[in-house]
Amino acid sequence: MPILDIINKIEYSKEDLLELLSISSKDDLELLKKTAYEIMKQYVGEKVYLRGLIEFSNYCVNDCFYCGIRKSNRDLPRFILSKNEILDSALWCAQKGYGSVVLQSGERNDEAFVDFVEECVRDIKKITISDSLPNGLGITLCVGELSYAQYKRLYDAGAHRYLLRIETTNRKLFEQIHPNNQSYDKRIECLHMLKEIGYYVGTGVMIGLPKQTIEDLVNDLVFFKELDVDMIGMGPYLMHLSTPMKEHKDYFFDNQKEIYKLSLKMIGVARLYLKDVNIAATTALQAMYPWGREEGLLFGANIIMPNLTPMDARKNYELYNGKPCLDEFQGDCFKCITTRIESTGRQVALNEWGDSLHYISRKRQEL
Ligand code: 5AD
Ligand code: FES
Repeated sequence: MPILDIINKIEYSKEDLLELLSISSKDDLELLKKTAYEIMKQYVGEKVYLRGLIEFSNYCVNDCFYCGIRKSNRDLPRFILSKNEILDSALWCAQKGYGSVVLQSGERNDEAFVDFVEECVRDIKKITISDSLPNGLGITLCVGELSYAQYKRLYDAGAHRYLLRIETTNRKLFEQIHPNNQSYDKRIECLHMLKEIGYYVGTGVMIGLPKQTIEDLVNDLVFFKELDVDMIGMGPYLMHLSTPMKEHKDYFFDNQKEIYKLSLKMIGVARLYLKDVNIAATTALQAMYPWGREEGLLFGANIIMPNLTPMDARKNYELYNGKPCLDEFQGDCFKCITTRIESTGRQVALNEWGDSLHYISRKRQEL
């Protein structure tokens, strides 16, 4: 069936999603991009919402085989920003008009850590209230798997969004890229807890993992729909040479171009299939190709997370090799990213939280 006929269907079957992700001709890719953009325009508008990213600590109790800050990577100097450093970054972000901030770190689940994050959330809320942001910055957390009580405390402190990637919905593949003490079921349970508490929930996957198939990616998309997520953050898997996955480096370097293209297709197809969710053009795209995030926007993404982390810490928050934004403009992503976004003809939303319409209608239905 011609790709246009599939794109125009009202509902997509798994076979349709597979066809769309398998697009290989330039014309079909262009068609996917154009239609995804139109759907984005229709459902969420053309504005790009910013979430200032503060990578506040690279201490991690986990040992994911793909991740540069895994606890077994002994070469990496570990850091945690002080509360004042975090608050300064958040205030700067509010003054620039970003509207929202993301606090991201390696995983820790001890009470001292959760106390610290809770205090930061409370204080960020307090200090960022202004005429232009009457409810303070929107706060997203991305600090991994915690208990229900811990998630609830952070929500009550004022964080209303949470990002927790499922990484891959292929259970076997999940097990291959994580040690035995990290389980797929636990990850799913956490996502359900977050939803139950009332968070705006974001999840996502890595694209191009060794042994991952297009069928896996189709199942990932179906998973997003079934979980009824509000936000999707997904991007290419990137090699970090101080991880056990360096054994796959030939596969990775041989397939980089394909993986990049597949990542853009995933954004486009997710937009067609899920319509009103927020979709991020992730930094990992830019690590693969200098204009990767801009291309993500053209395939229907509407969120960008400019890095606000102080430069020394930023360098040590190395999830993968080739992380961008380490020297350009001395790390002043604000100017850079605004120019980049405007180069795609899009406008940056200022002083808006930019909650997904999906979340807003989900909340309304619950009332
Ligand atoms: N390549 C791409 N993404 C990675 N992440 C961690 N390591 C890598 C890597 N090597 C992503 C994971 C995690 C998020 C915070 O960063 O998907 O959920
Ligand atoms: Fe970070 Fe350009 S977006 S330096």
